[in-house]
Amino acid sequence: MEKSFIFLIFLVLTHRSSMQEDDNAYSKIPAGLKIGIGEASYQTEGAWNISNKGESIWDNFVHNVPWKIDDQSNGDTASDSYYKYKDDVKLIKMLGLDYHRLSISWARVLPNGSADSINQEGIQYYHNFIDELLANGIEPIVTIYHWDHPQVLEDMGGWMNESMATWFTEYAEVLYRELGPKVKVFVTINEPQILCFQGYGGTLIAPGRNLGPAGAYTCGHNMLKAHAKAYRLYGEKYRSAQNGKLGIISHCSGFLPETEGETLPSETAYQFRCGWISHAIFVGDYPQLMKSKVAEVSRNEGLSESRLPKFSPEWIRYINGTADFFGLNHYSSYLVSFPTTTIQNDSFMLDDSGVSIRSDPRWEAGSLKRFRIIPEGFGWLLRKIKSEYNNPPVYITENGLPDNGGLQDYQRIKYHYLYLKEVLRAVQRDGCNVQRYTFWSLLDHFEWNSGYRHTFGFINVNMTSPGRERTPKLSFSWLQNVMRTRQLQPPILPPSVNTTTNHQ
Ligand code: BGC
Repeated sequence: MEKSFIFLIFLVLTHRSSMQEDDNAYSKIPAGLKIGIGEASYQTEGAWNISNKGESIWDNFVHNVPWKIDDQSNGDTASDSYYKYKDDVKLIKMLGLDYHRLSISWARVLPNGSADSINQEGIQYYHNFIDELLANGIEPIVTIYHWDHPQVLEDMGGWMNESMATWFTEYAEVLYRELGPKVKVFVTINEPQILCFQGYGGTLIAPGRNLGPAGAYTCGHNMLKAHAKAYRLYGEKYRSAQNGKLGIISHCSGFLPETEGETLPSETAYQFRCGWISHAIFVGDYPQLMKSKVAEVSRNEGLSESRLPKFSPEWIRYINGTADFFGLNHYSSYLVSFPTTTIQNDSFMLDDSGVSIRSDPRWEAGSLKRFRIIPEGFGWLLRKIKSEYNNPPVYITENGLPDNGGLQDYQRIKYHYLYLKEVLRAVQRDGCNVQRYTFWSLLDHFEWNSGYRHTFGFINVNMTSPGRERTPKLSFSWLQNVMRTRQLQPPILPPSVNTTTNHQ
């Protein structure tokens, strides 16, 4: 009896100390890992019709089909960052971050979509914002396009029109010329996966075209061409003088096998969602697995050819190699399997894959149920990217958790503690080449079709007050400490909780 008690104590102590060892081992932020925060133009700027700005597809969407937004709100004023960018920069500086990721509103810079008439007031706003960041020692990372293209271009077909690749490249060139001398990292396009499936395939976000999977695939096809053209142009005309880095952002979840050891469903889900865009850039063409499956499904539906468009050998070569880093937005993970009955995925994004994805209801969720706290899925993904593409430099360009607002955001701190720890482990233990980690997001903002009901900010914005006052949340001071010490800080637990988390 006594012996087994001593053994138990021994077990507890050794388990404790191995946990502590683990904690210490993966707490230090290495010198090669830069830490920043991000925002997107439509989500924060407001001033939707100020400074000669043109109408974007989001202005059009929220004004014409307001019922598509959960709380019928819009981004007309949003977080008012068009006027308050100096306050925002002060807050970023207080956080001690290395960089800030912002996006440019295409319609503010080119109101009628054409690079022939640049809106000087519009581009000046971005000069001012970027100058303010630089003056405060904060590196700017610029997303050229985060979902808000001019409505006039949508009227000509938007991403269904191959000419969009040319229009996008002309717009990108305006930004290289104007901002390139002071911006050393450009992201061409944010998440083709989400915009193409939810905005062109479906109706959830602007422009809500409802064109099904064929529409979504065509959208991705044209975006890959647009990205590659913009990347090549930078190489030909600007790289030698400006010496910046360029990439595109993929939205990738973690796909954990429902049945241990059964890896094909995970592989399939990964290639359909993440590989769809990333394979073309890092390996060449769409993944074989995706090409075969979509061809098969198309045949079964009686189509004369696959609904996944084909690249010519010239395009395959042209797109391949067009990234200086792997841009990664990651939020959560799923369990995946091949179902025995008909699939009931809540999004048709994976339907052609034949894979079923679900969340384990035991996994803790943020205010939106698809955002579950499952950090091991992030580790899985980082290792997958390492092995799939020969360990490219990875810039994590978004990572965050939604809640219902409030200043005591314990859950956000817990999420970031666990997720950043997973990154540190992937870097230090597994040799993953992660070079940037971006918290999402700086402010509470317009969260697309969720309106203002769900917030990601480290800073609360009073959305009902015309002054849009900013108040730092609890997570803000946690993050300040992380940056001050360059050391991951333990989560702050709510007063009622006195045990540590079991996610280690
Ligand atoms: C988008 C962000 C958005 C986040 C949370 C990402 O897909 O890039 O703009 O705020 O998801 O929903």
